[in-house]
Amino acid sequence: MKRLEDNHNELQRRREFPDWEKMYVEQAVETMPWFHPELDADLDRALKRLSIDSGSFLDLGTGPGTQAIALAERGFRVTGTDISETAVRKAEALTAEKGLDLVFKADDILKTGLNKKFDNIFDRGCFHVLDPDKRGDYVKIAAGLLEPGGYLFLKTFSVEELMEGGPYRFTAEEIRDIFSKRFEVVSIEASVFRGTLAEFPKAIFCILRKK
Ligand SMILES: C[S@@+](CC[C@H](N)C(=O)[O-])C[C@H]1O[C@@H](n2cnc3c(N)ncnc32)[C@H](O)[C@@H]1O
Repeated sequence: MKRLEDNHNELQRRREFPDWEKMYVEQAVETMPWFHPELDADLDRALKRLSIDSGSFLDLGTGPGTQAIALAERGFRVTGTDISETAVRKAEALTAEKGLDLVFKADDILKTGLNKKFDNIFDRGCFHVLDPDKRGDYVKIAAGLLEPGGYLFLKTFSVEELMEGGPYRFTAEEIRDIFSKRFEVVSIEASVFRGTLAEFPKAIFCILRKK
């Protein structure tokens, strides 16, 4: 319990993140901790539970593009965006000849140039690397990019993850505080981040519905 409390206090500390563009230039995407070629199992379950099998998706902070590709392969119309131009170029190269309804675009979510609305947004690991001072902006922007009643599927590190460094961690209560002005909190469940690390970091998976 004490470790959890200490960790929670640690949350308030400013965290440092890589220069994303430099990272995507220098490192093969397959070696990145979050690289996961299949559709995230939590999102897969949520889509089944909510009977969502068509429509548009924004994969926000798409990185290697695996989630955008998996969604497009299921028939969704997908836009994948990332702050790193190189991530976007690499993701495009992976999909060049697949004939999917999928576009990738370099875009900083906090200064987004996107001018269309989506039925759904998937954020697997972007929100939890943003500056805490910008969380309110993120909520407003994400809500603005969704059609009325649209879903934001959000996956972040959980406060129960005790590894040194890395992304900000959240409790369910904090997610409620941050999002509930513009989103109905449908569910928040404990999960893990499947990727290339030997031990999968503890996560929470949140289903949020635009009010
Ligand atoms: C932990 S990675 C997750 C990548 C991908 N969603 C996945 O699950 O494979 C976080 C991603 O967010 C991107 N990112 C960071 N800040 C961003 C911002 N302000 N706008 C858009 N993308 C951002 C990074 O470049 C990185 O690709």
